[in-house]
Amino acid sequence: MQTFKTAIVIGASSGIGECLVRQLAREGVTVAALARRAGELERVRADLGADAGRVRCYPHDVTDYASVPALFDRICEDLGSVDLVIYNAGVMPAVAEGEYNFQKDHQMVAVNLLGAMAWLNPVAAYMEARRAGTIVGISSVAGDRGRRGNPGYHTTKAALTTYLEALRNRLTRYGVTVVTVKPGPVATPMTKDLGKLPLLIQPDVAASGILAHARAGSVEGYVPALWRPIMTVIQSVPSFIFRRTNI
Ligand SMILES: NC(=O)c1ccc[n+]([C@@H]2O[C@H](COP(=O)([O-])OP(=O)(O)OC[C@H]3O[C@@H](n4cnc5c(N)ncnc54)[C@H](OP(=O)(O)O)[C@@H]3O)[C@@H](O)[C@H]2O)c1
Repeated sequence: MQTFKTAIVIGASSGIGECLVRQLAREGVTVAALARRAGELERVRADLGADAGRVRCYPHDVTDYASVPALFDRICEDLGSVDLVIYNAGVMPAVAEGEYNFQKDHQMVAVNLLGAMAWLNPVAAYMEARRAGTIVGISSVAGDRGRRGNPGYHTTKAALTTYLEALRNRLTRYGVTVVTVKPGPVATPMTKDLGKLPLLIQPDVAASGILAHARAGSVEGYVPALWRPIMTVIQSVPSFIFRRTNI
């Protein structure tokens, strides 16, 4: 089991990310909380009451790729060192049946994938040099198959899963842990207009599942765990059947 003294949560202003910040701070971890909405970050920090002093807010847009190395250096200096980095930022704009929208696809690639690479490349170099650290990427069950609902979103999560696997294959030999977490549906602002979703969980439950995988150093963790057998079945459905379903 790994323990953490300091952490960075990227995408910390709502949903799963705000619960990650809250749980880490309450466990005594000093957390750098990043997202665009400074006011929401401040709300997350202030809500912690006595534990608010453990959270530092850094308003940041992950698509401002050029600013990442300097911001990461600044956070490392402010925190002393960084044990855990969670890349949680993500967007999933609604895509209608029959809609093929490059702008929406571009936005998802920019945040869900390129933002992850912009952050996790310098994080990987830092942790490789220190021979220590844990990287967690929040992928999704949505990345396990290319489904009809939102092709761009499925693509970004599949690519993120592969990128994280490649980082793991580079970094394990240097004592760095790379954890891919694939949540199923979680009740957050991202999913609020999607109607009834299967096995929907609350964001605090998702956050504790993610942190359990981070501490255990899981390779690929499903949250909740029931999604693993479900996705194993879904992944095995042949295309000639899958393309006729509404999954
Ligand atoms: N909800 C689900 O069912 C579900 C399932 C599987 C995986 N996930 C993944 O879990 C992660 C968190 O999602 P959520 O459901 O908690 O959604 P959410 O409440 O909408 O949170 C998304 C977070 O990403 C941040 N973000 C978005 N664009 C950003 C940008 N350009 N720069 C910096 N931060 C940005 C948002 O902050 P600002 O808007 O303040 O920038 C917010 O903190 C995402 O990666 C999502 O794909 C969600």
